[in-house]
Amino acid sequence: MPQQRDDAPPTAVTDWAVLQPEQPVALRPESPLHKGLYQCSVLESSADRLRVTMPMDQGKLVLIPVGTPVVVQAETGNGTVTIQARVIDRQGGTSRSLLLGPLPQPPRYLGRQQPGTQARTIAITSGKGGVGKTALVVNLGVALSELGQRVCIVDGDLGTANVDVILNLAPRWNLAHVIAGEKDIYDVLVEGPSGVIILPGGSGLQELTALDDRQFAKLRSQFQRLERYTDILLLDTGSGLSRSVTNFILAADETLLITTPEPHAITDAYALLKVLAEENVQQALRLVVNRVRDAREGEEIARKMLFASQRFLGIELAYLGHVSDDPAVGAAIRRQQDLFSWAGRSRAAEDIRRLAARLLAAGGDAAPAAVSKPRSLVQRLRAMFGR
Ligand SMILES: Nc1ncnc2c1ncn2[C@@H]1O[C@H](COP(=O)(O)OP(=O)(O)OP(=O)(O)O)[C@@H](O)[C@H]1O
Ligand SMILES: [Mg+2]
Repeated sequence: MPQQRDDAPPTAVTDWAVLQPEQPVALRPESPLHKGLYQCSVLESSADRLRVTMPMDQGKLVLIPVGTPVVVQAETGNGTVTIQARVIDRQGGTSRSLLLGPLPQPPRYLGRQQPGTQARTIAITSGKGGVGKTALVVNLGVALSELGQRVCIVDGDLGTANVDVILNLAPRWNLAHVIAGEKDIYDVLVEGPSGVIILPGGSGLQELTALDDRQFAKLRSQFQRLERYTDILLLDTGSGLSRSVTNFILAADETLLITTPEPHAITDAYALLKVLAEENVQQALRLVVNRVRDAREGEEIARKMLFASQRFLGIELAYLGHVSDDPAVGAAIRRQQDLFSWAGRSRAAEDIRRLAARLLAAGGDAAPAAVSKPRSLVQRLRAMFGR
């Protein structure tokens, strides 16, 4: 075997048993809270477990939380080797040690990883409740996925977290478990129809507002891992004017505002636009009129709303299109199926396909108000939770 030169790059090893007991190793936690490089030594090793001495810093124990990813580096007879691992257990007392295991692998359905891509984040919201947001999020997600997009739906409806109910999914865990550090984000994701990924919010979304820095930092790195697999992130927000809803909208790149032709729904949509105008939103705002009799009804409502919001609020609202009032939508929900697998040729399905194609054609920058720079999910999270 050729000898490795001293300056050769480290080799990533998959069989951890190459590290023998007493082997000195350098441990670098990938956490904003522990930035150091800690010298430890191996206590025991097997193919996928490594027990090392507890890291110390100036005579003090460094308590790296369970779940933290770490890079282990060691000098062996074959050159420098590295291991990507995460802390899976900490042992206190006299036999203090840190047990490392493999990083969780993304679920197979996440497909190929494309590092560096930034997801386009679209909030779906309404002034009044019950206008069809969740049904649209789910079906638009499927339509976008069928157009080749990698779609993730974040179920952010604080009242009724029901994306999973609509799709007959039974997620065991949700964002609350990720925040508590009990689960990795990859454990929580569930696969929906046409490869759409769902991130169940559960009660986690309420907890998000009360995170301390440590929990926030952890969640941030979890979201970064999700973003690698996502082209479009759809946020199903609640309805109304509460802070949590507007925070979600502010965190997104774009917003789809949903209304129906019903006068109350229209006035409530307008009231929400007014709040957004006061918040000085700098993003693409698009209107969808749901449950229309025909295209004309949608256009008529859009014309009035676009005019009023520009004239009285100084907001550029663009009209994305309509969805017909169609009993197939409710029927699919009752069957807990997406609209395309239940009634793919229905009017509403055709309308939603058209909306998806227009969204893609519009890119992230169609509306005149969309002047914001692309932001990473991390920056969005900051906006979402006021950091
Ligand atoms: N295009 C449509 N045609 C007919 N019925 C529809 C259409 N869109 C939605 N609905 C019906 O409206 C009801 C409410 O829809 P949905 O739950 O998606 O609204 P929502 O805005 O998410 O409500 P909430 O504000 O409570 O979260 C559903 O029962 C659905 O059947
Ligand atoms: Mg809903």
